[in-house]
Amino acid sequence: MNAKQLAGEKAVEHVKDGMLLGLGTGSTVYWSILKLGDLVKKGLNIKGVPTSTNTEKLAINLGIPLVSLSSINQLDLTIDGADEANRNFELIKGGGGALLREKMVASISRRFITVIDDTKMVTDLGEFPLPVEIIQFGWELTLKQVSELGSKPKLRMDNNAPFITDNGNYILDCYFGKIQDANGLKNTLNMIPGVVENGLFVNMADTIIIGNKNGSVSTL
Ligand code: 5RP
Repeated sequence: MNAKQLAGEKAVEHVKDGMLLGLGTGSTVYWSILKLGDLVKKGLNIKGVPTSTNTEKLAINLGIPLVSLSSINQLDLTIDGADEANRNFELIKGGGGALLREKMVASISRRFITVIDDTKMVTDLGEFPLPVEIIQFGWELTLKQVSELGSKPKLRMDNNAPFITDNGNYILDCYFGKIQDANGLKNTLNMIPGVVENGLFVNMADTIIIGNKNGSVSTL
């Protein structure tokens, strides 16, 4: 079993019958969703809110019942991946481009479990370029304003065209170097008018489950 699978499947041990779940996006939480699909077939009663169209399609294929975010006030648990995590439980997310929906879903979850492999646990966030979702209108201006904060933003591309999020927006991947004040940077970025949301998740993760390449799993 690979490290991502180990972490993804371990998180499902925290799921209980009757729970409303946030379903994250990416290749680690994929294993959680697959496991949940198995358990649903065996009679587990859960409902999920997907954080992307990809996750929505996967959950539908597996027969996991879904509800819309608008129809609920709170989720019991969200399981989602991350691109980097540190010992303060601060995360960089958005490598898959789903950061806005992921943050909305995480924000109403009583508990948020992050599933990663051991390569993603870092001392300082920032080696992975921070994804920042911006609106298309005037994106060059927003890129300039983000770069004035001390980063080197790059417009994310997909097959020679700008990558478009599920929300119809662009993504800037921003290299800031070591991020010392994740909360400050998160708030400063979100004050730029063209910025919709950024991939810094601070004070959101309650538990980090790490799949190690030696086959063990650690929980923080
Ligand atoms: C998507 C995300 C993912 O959770 C993050 O990119 C990790 O993905 P993976 O598990 O495939 O490495 O934030 O927006």
